[in-house]
Amino acid sequence: MIDAVICGAFGRMGNTISRLISESDDIRVVGGVDVRAGTISGAPVVASAEIGDLLAKTKPDVVIDFTIASAVVANVKAAAAAGSALVVGTTGISPEQRAEMDRAIMGHVPAVISTNYSIGVNIFWELLKAAAPLLKDYDVEVIEAHHRYKKDAPSGTAKTILQILDNGLGERKKCYGREGMTDRKDEIGVHVIRGGDIVGDHSVLFSGNYETITLSHHAYDRSVFAKGALQAVRWIIEKEPGTYAMADVLGLVR
Ligand SMILES: NC(=O)c1ccc[n+]([C@@H]2O[C@H](COP(=O)([O-])OP(=O)(O)OC[C@H]3O[C@@H](n4cnc5c(N)ncnc54)[C@H](O)[C@@H]3O)[C@@H](O)[C@H]2O)c1
Repeated sequence: MIDAVICGAFGRMGNTISRLISESDDIRVVGGVDVRAGTISGAPVVASAEIGDLLAKTKPDVVIDFTIASAVVANVKAAAAAGSALVVGTTGISPEQRAEMDRAIMGHVPAVISTNYSIGVNIFWELLKAAAPLLKDYDVEVIEAHHRYKKDAPSGTAKTILQILDNGLGERKKCYGREGMTDRKDEIGVHVIRGGDIVGDHSVLFSGNYETITLSHHAYDRSVFAKGALQAVRWIIEKEPGTYAMADVLGLVR
């Protein structure tokens, strides 16, 4: 049995993950962390300041973090100090925050860090890696849409898409929305939609004269992220200390 603590236990992802865990027979929730105390799946949830005590008491095999960028570094440090493996899905993390997390993890615990745990999105990223170098002469636009409560923009998934495009096309200027007189050069346009309960849509358009190639992924339910995160949980507990991507979990790294 794999013992897990969920940080962000009362959030949209925390709730979906705990529901999927309760339907599994090899993982159990032994505790949670959020901004206020309570319970989840019958396990205690403590306020964030108490995370050290909770981890010392429950000794989880893995800490799963779907919180917010301002909280994730402290949670990662606490998990690494307690010797628990990590599965981190929180997005909006700055390069400095990511470097701080990596320092806490390296040589101490194994961690999967991914801006998207959906298997479909990870395959979509692989398709983009293959397509981008072939489409250097096309105009590229990235469009993402999420629910009205999403805090960071563009999404972590869109930022990963931009990284893949930079690797495949060479680094290009990013243009976050357009207004007024525009003069398109070879920038990548990035467009963010926020509304209703959209779970997560991402599209990349490669437009030339008389033709457009569109690669798209649409998530219809958060369970696609939660399912991938649980696959990462089962995979990471066996690994050596260090940071891994979802592509490692899925065997997509060649
Ligand atoms: N990697 C992926 O596949 C993936 C998928 C969906 C969402 N996300 C990301 O996961 C994060 C959470 O998404 P969500 O939709 O569940 O958001 P949410 O706002 O519904 O949930 C976040 C939870 O974290 C809690 N929280 C805030 N500060 C905390 C702290 N210091 N310690 C512990 N908990 C704290 C909040 O109270 C809230 O309950 C976001 O960054 C989102 O972009 C990632």
